[in-house]
Amino acid sequence: PPPGWTTRADVVVIGSGIAGLTAALRVRAEAPSLSVLVVTKTVLNAGSTQWAQGGIAAALGEGDTPEEHEVDTLVAGAGACDREAVRVLVTEGPDAVRELIALGTNFDHHDGVLSLTREGGHHRDRIAHAGGDATGAEIQRALIAAVELDPRIEVIQHALAVDLLLDAAGAVAGVTLHVLGEGQKDGVGAVHCRAVILASGGLGQVFNQTTNPAVSTGDGMALALRAGAVLRDLEFVQFHPTVMYLGPDSRGQQPLISEAVRGEHAFLVDWAGNRFMQGQHELADLAPRDVVAKAITRRMIEEGKPHMWLDARHLGAEFWERRFPTILATCRSHGVDPVVDLIPVAPAQHYASGGVLTDLFGRSSIAGLYATGEVACSGVHGANRLASNSLLEGLVFSRRIAAVLPGELRPWSTPAVDVRRPGLVDESVRADVQRTMTERVGVLRSAAGMAEAAVALSSLLKAGAGAVGPDQWEATNLLAISTALAQAASRREETRGSHWREDFPERDDARMAGHFDTVLTGGEL
Ligand code: SIN
Repeated sequence: PPPGWTTRADVVVIGSGIAGLTAALRVRAEAPSLSVLVVTKTVLNAGSTQWAQGGIAAALGEGDTPEEHEVDTLVAGAGACDREAVRVLVTEGPDAVRELIALGTNFDHHDGVLSLTREGGHHRDRIAHAGGDATGAEIQRALIAAVELDPRIEVIQHALAVDLLLDAAGAVAGVTLHVLGEGQKDGVGAVHCRAVILASGGLGQVFNQTTNPAVSTGDGMALALRAGAVLRDLEFVQFHPTVMYLGPDSRGQQPLISEAVRGEHAFLVDWAGNRFMQGQHELADLAPRDVVAKAITRRMIEEGKPHMWLDARHLGAEFWERRFPTILATCRSHGVDPVVDLIPVAPAQHYASGGVLTDLFGRSSIAGLYATGEVACSGVHGANRLASNSLLEGLVFSRRIAAVLPGELRPWSTPAVDVRRPGLVDESVRADVQRTMTERVGVLRSAAGMAEAAVALSSLLKAGAGAVGPDQWEATNLLAISTALAQAASRREETRGSHWREDFPERDDARMAGHFDTVLTGGEL
């Protein structure tokens, strides 16, 4: 439908997690004359940041260095990282975290010293945390408080970003939104702007089980694809090894058992009580995430079991209550007391390492479109993100965008190009998309399975939609991004990091030479 209302802002930020709110605050700090509009699909704290448990990684501990953080990041990324992007992340990371502290984020301290823990793939304690295991919630709280203090940051909640508006030169001129119940701005409307910063997070709801909240439906990546932006590394979908197993029919967001629990000496056991990570990797239970997820999956297949077990009983009641109060309460709410019981765990989708291709300042391939956080792909994660590098990425790259954007902001222009949009599909296709992706493009992939997925997904495109609203936009976005992901995964004929091919079980440096770009437009989907 044509826009029912219009408004304008110099800069529109799509998304309200650590990446989006940092971008909004930093743009205002760098260029106080600019107006900034933050749009968010439901409410400000509904995204993945709020759910982050383990923490944020940076070389802040005594004796630690950015170079050591760099090595761990590159090793986890399995040869597919952009080295410059990693260097930026690890060298600017410590100051970025200090700035977050200055903003009012209360990280945990012990005897006046910042407490740092360890997670998979790290050779040092370098993960800062808050509230024990509620790091994301504390960061989100501090950022929202800062945004609310700035009258020139407008916020529209319950606003799903539908499509970019491009000018005759193909540069960003605005964005259309579908807003539910925001007074005058209700229904489909258009925001004219001079730049868009995409910070809309990931795509976990593409799969049956994910640690991501309900809002993670790949909207930003789908919007960018339709506008003709280059996406990269979509096939590198990270599955977190230790997600609480709630039964075969449990769907949607599942409870995460942070790697920090293993960082504090919990360990995995199979059904016979064997510690099966020992001997598999020098870091055993704290090997990089893809190694642990694969080991659990292999053991599940060998033993014909739906999950393995995490043993954290020896941490004791007092430690559990102080260090992991959120996880403890969640486990107990599901009838498992980790002080006396083993926790049933299985891998579930956790993080999209790929996304909208950006340079080191968050610039996408479309003039005026920037991307940061999980929606973006600067190459910093390669084939497998290192634990607790995600909050850091949002922080560091949003700061870099804000440093350059005011100086390169384009003049106001007029929307001219009708971004081609595939037909909307009914929300009922969502379950079919999720099942197809989980069974055919999930943890373990093969050419035959992915070919079946491609056929199934393309048949869903014909489903049509009876109504037009956020549910239909989300289903359409899930289908679009699943189609792109399946294509990218079938092109990568090797096993690397989180991309695991049954038919190409080895890493093939000569054939696949690191990463490659996936370029798709709306017309191809
Ligand atoms: C966790 O706490 O295990 C998740 C941390 C992350 O995804 O980096």
